[in-house]
Amino acid sequence: MIKPNPFTPQSGWEPKIFGGREDQVQHFLKTMEEAATSRSNHMVIIGQWGIGKTSLLKQFKKITQEQGYLASFCPISQIKERSSSTAAVNLIMQEIHNGFPKAVKETKSAKQKLQPQVLFTQFLLELWPQLDTRLAVVLLDDVQNLASVSVVIDLLRAVLSKEEVITQTRYLFVLASTTDGWESFINKHDPVGRFFRRREMIGNLTPEETHAVIISTLQDTGVSFDQAIIKEIYHYTQGHPYELQLLASHLFAAQLQGKVTMNEWLPAFKTTLRELGKDYFQSLFERASDREKEVLLVLAEAKAALPQSEIRRIMIVEKHAKNFPVANIKNFLYRLHDKGLVKRQDNGNFQILDPIFGEYVKSNI
Ligand SMILES: Nc1ncnc2c1ncn2[C@@H]1O[C@H](COP(=O)(O)OP(=O)(O)OP(=O)(O)O)[C@@H](O)[C@H]1O
Ligand SMILES: [Mg+2]
Repeated sequence: MIKPNPFTPQSGWEPKIFGGREDQVQHFLKTMEEAATSRSNHMVIIGQWGIGKTSLLKQFKKITQEQGYLASFCPISQIKERSSSTAAVNLIMQEIHNGFPKAVKETKSAKQKLQPQVLFTQFLLELWPQLDTRLAVVLLDDVQNLASVSVVIDLLRAVLSKEEVITQTRYLFVLASTTDGWESFINKHDPVGRFFRRREMIGNLTPEETHAVIISTLQDTGVSFDQAIIKEIYHYTQGHPYELQLLASHLFAAQLQGKVTMNEWLPAFKTTLRELGKDYFQSLFERASDREKEVLLVLAEAKAALPQSEIRRIMIVEKHAKNFPVANIKNFLYRLHDKGLVKRQDNGNFQILDPIFGEYVKSNI
């Protein structure tokens, strides 16, 4: 019998097999032990859409509890424009409170009209003895949603730096944010960057990690993928966790007698591309201006990373782009890079984000 589809192509769904991230887990273990025995160096996890921030925080929660400490996982939802910082602090307090697996009483401070910073300090001080643990880990996911009240992140920093919080409690905060979101906090409140110095950038899985995730996820399901399929999954997704889960899930659904071969590739790939287009690529692509899109197409059609001079040559010689402002290609490339549509290699060459996105670009210009 074929088992249900084991892939988890959904934002926030924990993968059946959690691949890679060994450095991050090691750093977290070390930070946790330091926090339990001496002092807390609060952390931040930074990465793009679908790269596995939520899954990593959930992994940290499990590790924390395995060690016998308590953890609260707190998803931060989008805050309305013009909300006050008190409203944002209340939301965070509520999430922290609900996230602990203990019946804790509502803290007195919540009922008083206090300045948000005083309120949050009181909350942490009152909550601590009730938790009855050696360490309490607070995992705040999607803090970029606090962008419209960014001062709250600075407030969090100020509260966690307070003498009484440091001496009377043992909390370890781990924040997760999108790359752009975190940059905007640092730009607006520079002490934030200095305070959350333990920064973990997460990126794509390596070829070996991708391979291992696919093989282990398929174990005991009654379905196997040909080696060629696994190679293609890596080639197109470059190990992007969400993309690989989605593609593998459609391929799994296409099995014939428990086997997935290159015969099943194309329909599954097209469905994946359509879904990624709707969910994500469309909004990414629309960040590019019309001129930038022309440059992007050159990169989408290229098999490898290209130097600027080659992009320029293709524009002039192959595309006959007579009216194209070739002198500006450098600017277009840097802007595409800042907007997250292209990658820049160490040698300065440019490459499209990944080949699946390249396919999307080719079919939408
Ligand atoms: N380490 C991993 N190994 C295998 N699959 C993973 C891993 N991390 C995440 N995934 C899968 O990738 C997808 C995205 O994961 P997750 O929701 O954690 O990312 P995110 O960065 O929080 O995304 P979002 O930007 O949507 O909040 C999910 O389908 C998840 O199951
Ligand atoms: Mg997430």
